[in-house]
Amino acid sequence: MRRYVAGTDTASAVATTRTLYEDGLTVTLDHLGEDTTDRAQADAVTAAYLELLGALDRDGLTERLGPLAARAEVSVKLSAVGQALRGDGEKIALDQARSICDEAKRVGATVTLDMEDHTTTDSTFAILADLRRDFPDTGAVVQAYLKRTEADCRDLAVAGSRVRLCKGAYNEPESVAFKKRLEVDLSYVRCMNVLLAGDGYPMLATHDPHMIEIGAERALFHGRKAGDFEFQMLYGVRPDEQRRLAQAGHTMRVYLPYGAQWYGYLMRRLAERPSNLAFFARSLVSKG
Ligand code: FDA
Repeated sequence: MRRYVAGTDTASAVATTRTLYEDGLTVTLDHLGEDTTDRAQADAVTAAYLELLGALDRDGLTERLGPLAARAEVSVKLSAVGQALRGDGEKIALDQARSICDEAKRVGATVTLDMEDHTTTDSTFAILADLRRDFPDTGAVVQAYLKRTEADCRDLAVAGSRVRLCKGAYNEPESVAFKKRLEVDLSYVRCMNVLLAGDGYPMLATHDPHMIEIGAERALFHGRKAGDFEFQMLYGVRPDEQRRLAQAGHTMRVYLPYGAQWYGYLMRRLAERPSNLAFFARSLVSKG
């Protein structure tokens, strides 16, 4: 579990953040949760983020102000803070996200709103637009597998706009999403070009060696220097490549999940790459 997840509590999230910083990496922290089914659960998730941001601050881990690239970040799923609740779910999620953004601003960290399945995309962008009025550095996520995403990238590639580009992780219907791997990769490259050519701050989230190579080349082509864009990968996936990119002078942000509800997340990582099962089994055995 520790290969992909920092641990179950705030203290382990902070300790792992420190270790990653020592290796020249930066972080975006994700508090793992189940689907939020009531208001109390949404409040608890928000409280966990506030506790985390306070702890990072007390440990001096948000002091690296200066460029956006170097700041600690938290990633928030709006479904975890109430977006899907009946009635005024969207308003609840906005209010909860606003208090997380407030605390992040106080301690000098940033927030990115993870993107979930396509039925939530419009609602998530609406909440993002609202948050960005007060917290302009709130990050958006776009998913290259959605047919709409190239157009969304054009809208989002504006000054001050932080945008994470990923391939997309949900099982989406053909009516809205590219289903073939090649189509998704081609879309990723097109979206990368739009973001890198634009005025925003692109965050290229992928483990795919081809996308990374093309991203680095296109960034150079568009005159972007280190600090003008960043790469992102999941904690525990291709860690050597993460360090190689950081040593080559790139900003490398690691998506670091933590929390008591780690089981579902871990199963998804193992399902993506069954060969990791052997690694996981070995690490379990070695811990007795
Ligand atoms: P892909 O899965 O096509 O893999 C390409 C290559 O990468 C593989 O052939 C292999 O070489 C390498 N690789 C991939 N996985 C590996 C593994 N587990 N171990 C070793 N090598 C591996 N999704 C979403 O829908 N909403 C979101 O908000 C986010 N947020 C997000 C943040 C960050 C920082 C990352 C890295 C990813 C996300 N994602 C996401 C998930 C994303 O959409 C996607 O599902 C995964 O990143 C996998 O896609 P890749 O681009 O890595 O390529």
